[in-house]
Amino acid sequence: MTRAEQPAEQQAVLNTASETASDSDALVADSRERAVRALLRFPPLRRLWSAQVVGGIGDAVAVLVLLLLTLQASVLQGTFGDGYRGAAFAVAAVLGARVLATLLFGAVLLGPLTTLTSPSGPLDRRWTMIGADGLRLALLIVAPLWIDWSPENAPAVLLITVFVAGVAERFWTVAREGAAPALLPAPPLEGAAVRPLPDHLDALRRLWLRTGFAVIPAGAAVLLVATLIGNLLGSGIEWFSLHQAALGSYIAAGLFAASVSTLYFLELPRSLTPRPRSPLEGLRRPSTGNGLDKGRTDAIPLFVLACAAVAGAISSAVAVSVLHAFDLGGGPATFALLVLALTGGTGLGIRGAGSVLPTLSRRRLLALALALTGVALLAMGLVPDTATVLFLALLAGLAAGVAASIGHALIDQEAEEFRRGRISEHLQAVVRVAIGLGAIAAPLLAAAIGPHRLASGDFVFAHGGAAFTLMLVGALLLPVAAIVLAKTDDRAGVPLRRDLGDALRGGSDPAQAPAATGFFIAIEGGDGAGKSTQVDALAEWIRAKGHEVVVTREPGATPIGKRLRSILLDVSSAGLSNRAEALLYAADRAEHVGSVVRPALERGAIVISDRYIDSSVAYQGAGRDLSPTEIARISRWATDGLVPHLTVLLDVSPEAARERFTEAPDRLESEPAEFHQRVRAGFLTLAAADPGRYLVVDAGQEPSSVATVVRHRLDQLLPLSDAEVKALEEARKAAREEARRRAEEEAARKAEDERAERERQEQLAKLRAEEEERKRRELEEARQREAA
Ligand code: TMP
Repeated sequence: MTRAEQPAEQQAVLNTASETASDSDALVADSRERAVRALLRFPPLRRLWSAQVVGGIGDAVAVLVLLLLTLQASVLQGTFGDGYRGAAFAVAAVLGARVLATLLFGAVLLGPLTTLTSPSGPLDRRWTMIGADGLRLALLIVAPLWIDWSPENAPAVLLITVFVAGVAERFWTVAREGAAPALLPAPPLEGAAVRPLPDHLDALRRLWLRTGFAVIPAGAAVLLVATLIGNLLGSGIEWFSLHQAALGSYIAAGLFAASVSTLYFLELPRSLTPRPRSPLEGLRRPSTGNGLDKGRTDAIPLFVLACAAVAGAISSAVAVSVLHAFDLGGGPATFALLVLALTGGTGLGIRGAGSVLPTLSRRRLLALALALTGVALLAMGLVPDTATVLFLALLAGLAAGVAASIGHALIDQEAEEFRRGRISEHLQAVVRVAIGLGAIAAPLLAAAIGPHRLASGDFVFAHGGAAFTLMLVGALLLPVAAIVLAKTDDRAGVPLRRDLGDALRGGSDPAQAPAATGFFIAIEGGDGAGKSTQVDALAEWIRAKGHEVVVTREPGATPIGKRLRSILLDVSSAGLSNRAEALLYAADRAEHVGSVVRPALERGAIVISDRYIDSSVAYQGAGRDLSPTEIARISRWATDGLVPHLTVLLDVSPEAARERFTEAPDRLESEPAEFHQRVRAGFLTLAAADPGRYLVVDAGQEPSSVATVVRHRLDQLLPLSDAEVKALEEARKAAREEARRRAEEEAARKAEDERAERERQEQLAKLRAEEEERKRRELEEARQREAA
């Protein structure tokens, strides 16, 4: 029985014991993912988040609808010129108005805006948000009517609407960002938290970012449904067939109304009480400053370039998709579908990136995903068939999402911790600029190119400017992919085709499974990550719970293993071939699992192994030029598919780890820094592919903090020891006993009360009978007296 399976009563006991701590504990969850989800357990924050979801979808629908309306109005009037170019300029104008609002108020006027909505400023945050929603609601109700009311002014008024709605969105966002931290739970007591409060803020930032992105495809889906319903209505009511986007506009207005009603009931604390600062807060770990950092961070600008390139490319594709939809002979529904495929695909790609070809080098995958995005966009422009274009749009989105997610993860991994925050901010700024530029430049380019028709014999090639823009953007991504691959490749010398083939075949491996009895924990990490300290601390902690604990290691836990270890680590073995090295580690592992690990697990013991299969995959696979898939396969064969229940990855930069070495480095420790970088990346790739079975801990922290994080996860996973089960059963028995005793006492008391009541009634009846007897006698006597 694990703790998660404990009966509700015990859970309740545990919960009550830590009622106040539990909410903040949830935020200290050992993965960022959980921390983000845990945030939504706070009702006020959930309410604000719901408002962001509905308001955000409303905003996305509004932008798309206003684009369609402006296009319709300006084409009718010829505002931006005739024909194709006029339409493309109209699209550029709408997106330009939106980008201008975002840039102007998002960057230039951000400071004053933040001051205005600060607790000491004149604008109340909740009312600012409600006002911004209300304003957009009103704008969207009147937007579809302008074309009838004032056809010649409609394009200008609609552009102003786009701008004002963009400004309102900025006000909303700034007010929300100011308000949200005050809705977080109170900071945990000093020392009670594994992670400090800034992690809540980090989770919050992730939540906004993720939601801000997810509302775009949701908006496209809403527009699609609205257009389909509008078309149905249009067959009966003529107004709707003339105003195809009108229903979308009213739905956006409805969404803003829903946001207003959600916000109306939100209670915002007036101001955030300043939190007492820990004297350590704000201090960052110093840079190791040994000159190695430079080599590591060289790749970062290229990863940033990759992220910006895909973001700009997808934004360009979204920007010209309205033109392309009309070129393909479709209407608003095709436009909505294109936006949905591009942005929804990107979202799915970001989410699923971890499990895409998990054994392939992430740097190589980044280059491949970039190239695939490029090819898909290129093909989107080439093919004149709507269904194929939609499929290609989805493919481009998926590949772009994978590239963005991996680029981001690589930047995180490459950046030293103290620079991570700053680099991440720069990345966001660069990506925003790329998105803005793409959105404006792409329709302008489409306008400049215009429609073309090439004919040679039977072959006719007729395309609009949007199609050429898509082809151009796609083609531009290909050299970016080539540069990223050439400059950042960490597997130089290994043919990409072979790596890719390996990664694709990876799925057909033999089945792996954790043992049915016992509990197997592997502790992994680079040299100097502090594994031994953690293994000892963990063993002591688990033993104290009453378990049998077997502490073991690789290589060298068995007599044969010891001899293999000395061959493997002795510097005199320099020159040992990579394949022989891999097989020797696998041989040690086969012996280890067969004679130590499995027997212990069968006894029901908790086995903690210092290193396991992942070390081979990281060192011999990612570190050397062998295929990680093949290395994993050899180890799986050696262990007959035994995988740990939990693998703890102690992650630390090789430079920081090197400073911890106290003895002369062995053969592997003497490998160059780049080797250890690849090993680290190899470990992180394995962990990212199976987050449920891994716990990645920043091993740069104090050992006690590392241990706390590990215990926190194990508390939920470890089976209960016999002693714990016995203690729980005794507690349950005692509780039952107590309940029985109370029930008996109660029954006895009740019986006593009933008896007393019965006696009282009897007494009363007797008195009453005597009284009646007395009265009867008196009456008799009186009657006799009268007769006498
Ligand atoms: P350690 O036991 O002192 O951590 O050292 C073992 C060394 O062997 C370490 O540098 C990592 C390396 N190693 C591999 O290269 N492949 C493996 O499969 C294992 C278990 C260890």
